[in-house]
Amino acid sequence: MPNSYFQNKKILVTAGPTYEKIDPVRFIGNFSTGKMGIEIALKLAENGAQVDLVIGPTCLSVNHPNINVHHVVSALEMKDACMKYFPNCDMAILSAAVADYRPAEYQTQKIKKKEETFSIQLTKNPDIFKTLGELKQNHQKIIGFALETQNEIENAKQKLIIKNGDAIVLNSLNDEGAGFGKPTNKISVILKNGLIFDYSLKEKSEVAKDLLKCISENL
Ligand code: C5P
Repeated sequence: MPNSYFQNKKILVTAGPTYEKIDPVRFIGNFSTGKMGIEIALKLAENGAQVDLVIGPTCLSVNHPNINVHHVVSALEMKDACMKYFPNCDMAILSAAVADYRPAEYQTQKIKKKEETFSIQLTKNPDIFKTLGELKQNHQKIIGFALETQNEIENAKQKLIIKNGDAIVLNSLNDEGAGFGKPTNKISVILKNGLIFDYSLKEKSEVAKDLLKCISENL
C-alpha cells in the first residue's frame, strides 16, 4: 500500500560522500557509498514524491521517473545544489556524509614527494544541514542523520537542536552490520520532542521504509 503522505511532496535528499580535492589526482573523502540515501529516494519516489537527489561520488546508480539526480563532488558543490532545490521543497532528508574539512588550498599541479613528513592545512566546510535549518520555513521539515561512536543519543539530540532539524536518524558504528558500505543498517529516529523510535538491523531498503513510516506518522 503506497504511503499517501508523500504523494506529490517535493523532497530533497542528500546522499553519499563528498570528495575534497587536494591536487589534480588526490582528494580527502570517506567510505560512504550513498546506498542509504538512494534507498530513501527510491521509497519516496515509489510513494509519489518528486525527489531531488543530490549525491556525491558513487559507483551506484538510480533510475526512477520521479527522481532527478544531481551529481556533485565537493561539500561546496553539494551546498550550492541544496540551496538551489531546498526553497521549493516540502522536506529535506540529509543522509550525505559531508566532509567536515577541505584543503585550504587546491594545488593545481600534482604534489611531488619530498620530505619525510607532509601536512595539509584544512579549512572547515559549511554545515549544509545547519544552513538549511536556518532557512527553513514553517511548512518545511528537515530530517538529518548522525553517525556517533560515543554518547550517541545525547550527541544526536544536540545536533538536532543546533541544526534546527525536525528529526534525526542515529546510526551507530557500534552496531555490527550497520554503517558505511554495508547492505544493512540499524537506526533510531529521534524527534524534536525527545521521542525515540528504535528499529532492528535490516536491509537498507527496509530501513528506508521504516523511516518513511515514522516520518509520516510523526511529522
Ligand atoms: O555534525 P555531523 O556531521 O555529525 O552531522 C550529520 C548530519 O549533518 C547529517 O545529516 C549530514 O548530512 C549533515 N551535514 C551537512 N553538512 C556538513 C556536515 C554534516 O549537511 N558539512
